[in-house]
Parts: sequence; structure tokens; C-alpha cells
Amino acid sequence: MLDDPLQPVHGGADGGPEPLYDFSTNANALGPNPVILERLRRADPSRYPDPLYRGLRKALAKAHGVAWEQVAVGTGTSELIHRLARWAPLRGEVLLLAPTFGEYARAARASGLPLWEAKTPEEFLNRLPESRLAFLAVPNNPTGEVYPFLQEAAQRAGGALVLDLAYHDLLEAPLPLPEGVFRLYSPNKAHGLTGVRAGYLVGPWDLTPFQNLAPSWPVSVYGEALLWGQLEPEARAWLEATKKELFRLRRLLAAGLRGLGLRVLESPANFLLVWVGGAEEVARALRERGIRVRACTSFGLPEWLRLSAQREEAQGALLEALEEVLKEGAWAGL
Ligand SMILES: Cc1ncc(COP(=O)(O)O)c(C=O)c1O
Repeated sequence: MLDDPLQPVHGGADGGPEPLYDFSTNANALGPNPVILERLRRADPSRYPDPLYRGLRKALAKAHGVAWEQVAVGTGTSELIHRLARWAPLRGEVLLLAPTFGEYARAARASGLPLWEAKTPEEFLNRLPESRLAFLAVPNNPTGEVYPFLQEAAQRAGGALVLDLAYHDLLEAPLPLPEGVFRLYSPNKAHGLTGVRAGYLVGPWDLTPFQNLAPSWPVSVYGEALLWGQLEPEARAWLEATKKELFRLRRLLAAGLRGLGLRVLESPANFLLVWVGGAEEVARALRERGIRVRACTSFGLPEWLRLSAQREEAQGALLEALEEVLKEGAWAGL
């Protein structure tokens, strides 16, 4: 149970020893991208980056076909989400569509903003004209859903509609996105470099006051190297090549889990949900066996685990351990 609603809950590091296999974060399991890794090695940590990140923001703007003032960089999209909630023009009701990534609600609470957690797409769309700041993850975390109503949402938004594209580059078929919305990019996922903290926001208008809301130098020279590197054609080519294998691995994982008699909700990206009954208990038992998974309790889905596509050896270990754990426990009700 969570006692403090501001406590962050995520997959990945949990304070314990490193597990043998980690299915709990959705970073590209075939990473890190060697093209970007080389850039990281060449980064010069003896200097400050440009406090306005002019060269980098211009390069990102060119890639997205916008003016450089429409691009803001940050210590990761988590930081940008919190900064959005602190930005004066957007202060007002925060809207999200549950279940979804926990940082939207955390940012609203930390900034003392009213929060509306819509339970259905209809409720989300009806509430949009009144909200100042609305978040949609495309695809959604943890469900992997890709909402078919993005154009309609963009038209209805009364304030800022923010599309969080953290896993968009990992979709089997990335979709066209509406105009006039804010877009959050988190390239550390697709390139398997989540330890490098950097992300960026592209907005429909000048983001200079938003960029100035951050402390100086929110992005380190390593973060800069990541954001520059992901623009390189060789880095994109590596990503495209790994995606084919990642989707094969996700399908293999889904088939293996179904083979154990479990219900699986597959996403069109590199992760899936599996129903196990008592997610916390199963996650704990797997952790004791050296395997980390993400229990979806904090998303309001206490019976589901979220698993990312991992290499075959890891999948073999997971399926074996899961079969054992489910046999031992009464919670799965199998
Ligand atoms: C949907 C979504 N958005 C944003 C983030 C945050 O990414 P970062 O702060 O590494 O850019 C995550 C991380 O799990 C996520 O799942």
C-alpha cells in the first residue's frame, strides 16, 4: 500500500540487489543503442552545456518542422510533466484518463492543482473543454492502448492537450498525430538508455517562458548527447532494426504466458499486461527468484503484471518461475 500519494512508484530499481532479469521497465531490451553510446563516450563533462540549449533546440525543432522557441528540454519527461503543472498559463484543472502513468497525478497533487481522473474516453472527452492541462499517453502506459479519438480530443481541448509519446517510437505502426497539441518525447526508452536523464517538449506556441521556469542546466552533457544522438540516421536505423526483433519477442512472451493459461492484453508496442490474480504477491515471489516485474497496483490494476519484451533466455526463466509461483499460490485462482 502507498501511504504517501506523492511517493513515486515505477518499475526498475527498487533498492534491492540487481535481479537476474528485469521485465519491469519498458525500455528497449535490445539496447543500449551503440550509436548513441559512442556519443555519450565522447561527451565532455568538464564543461557546462549552453544554458539556453540553442544548438540542440534548433536541431530538435528542425526535425519536427517547428521554430526553435517551440522546443523545451528537460531532465526527462517526468520533470517536464511536473514543470507543465507549475506553468502559470496552464494552472487549473488537470485531466487524465485512468489507468495511466502515475506522474500526471503526482504533478497535479504536488502543485496543488485540482485533478480529474476520467474513467472512460467519453468522460475524458466531455471534461476536456473545462480542463487547463490534459494528458494522454500514446500508447498508454500500462495498457498499451492507442486511443482512436486523438483528433477529436485536440479539437475539444479547452487548455493544453499533452500527448506523451514515451513509447510512440516503439509502436509497430506509429500513427499520425493531431496538430495544435503539446508533445512529450522521451527517447531514452526506445534507445535503451533510461539512465540518461533527458527529454523534450514540442509545443504549439513559444515555450521560452516554460524553458525559463527550469533551474539552469536541467540537461547534462550526457543528456545532450542522447538528444543529439537520437536524431542521427544511424541511430534511427538501429532502432528500426531492433523493433522487428522486439515485436517477435513480445509475441513469443504473450504465447508463453497464454500457454500457462493466463489472460494477456498485448500492446502494439514492446510490453503487455498479464492477469495473475494477486500482482503484488506474485511480483514478490518472482523477485525472490531473481526476476523483477511491475505489479500494476499503483495503476489501480492489482491483479495484473506489466511485462516488457525481453530476450528468450529471460523469458524462459520467467515462464518457469511463474509456473512454479502460480502453482504454489492460491491467489491466481487457476
Ligand atoms: C508514459 C511515460 N511517460 C513518461 C515517462 C518518463 O520518462 P522520462 O522521465 O525518463 O523521460 C515514463 C516512464 O516510465 C512513462 O512511462
